[in-house]
Amino acid sequence: MRNDTALQFLRDRRSVPSAQLQAPGPSPEQLREIIAAAIRVPDHGKLVPWRLIEFSGEAGVRFGAALAELHRRIDPGVPEPKLAKDRDRFAHSPSVLAVVACIDERHPKIPAQEQLLSAGCLAFNLLLAAQAAGFGAQWLTGWSCYDRDAARLLQLKDNERVIAYIHIGGRGDEPPERKRPAVDDVVGSWQP
Ligand SMILES: Cc1cc2nc3c(=O)[nH]c(=O)nc-3n(C[C@H](O)[C@H](O)[C@H](O)COP(=O)(O)O)c2cc1C
Repeated sequence: MRNDTALQFLRDRRSVPSAQLQAPGPSPEQLREIIAAAIRVPDHGKLVPWRLIEFSGEAGVRFGAALAELHRRIDPGVPEPKLAKDRDRFAHSPSVLAVVACIDERHPKIPAQEQLLSAGCLAFNLLLAAQAAGFGAQWLTGWSCYDRDAARLLQLKDNERVIAYIHIGGRGDEPPERKRPAVDDVVGSWQP
């Protein structure tokens, strides 16, 4: 059955910059509803190669402060505005979910790439579900996703890494649309 509402939703969907997200964010029940919808993702081999870590309120403030401290230790000359960015990033969104990819590099059947892509599907589905629930959301990463000391702050295992911080909150003003590729620019036909 054709679902024009769903198609329209996908055509109109866009991220809301995290700095624009406002309180109130989702209640614990709303966040659970968003997560329950979002975890229905393609997952070759049913490995569930991902998990989520939630930061709300004080946890976001403390994680940002810990990241800034780590950043200063790694690079003692780091300029203060960069440290302020570390501190603020997790403080101003009402809710942040870290999407952690849990990759089994030696899996006999499912390549690591496919496990990572399943985690990416979860990250995108969180954006969709948050917007469908009436909130704004943005997928952010940053240096801490690629740093093992930062991973240790989150108690990640060696085979785990954060692939997305999904910031969720009230939408505020409608964000401007960005340039999108045209269908004809991204589709080609195979010529035998
Ligand atoms: C893997 C990934 C990482 C991203 N990391 C950042 C980031 O750290 N900072 C940023 O400003 N945007 C980042 N973005 C882009 C934002 O999510 C941006 O809001 C988004 O591309 C807007 O597109 P949309 O409206 O189609 O969701 C990232 C996007 C992806 C897919």
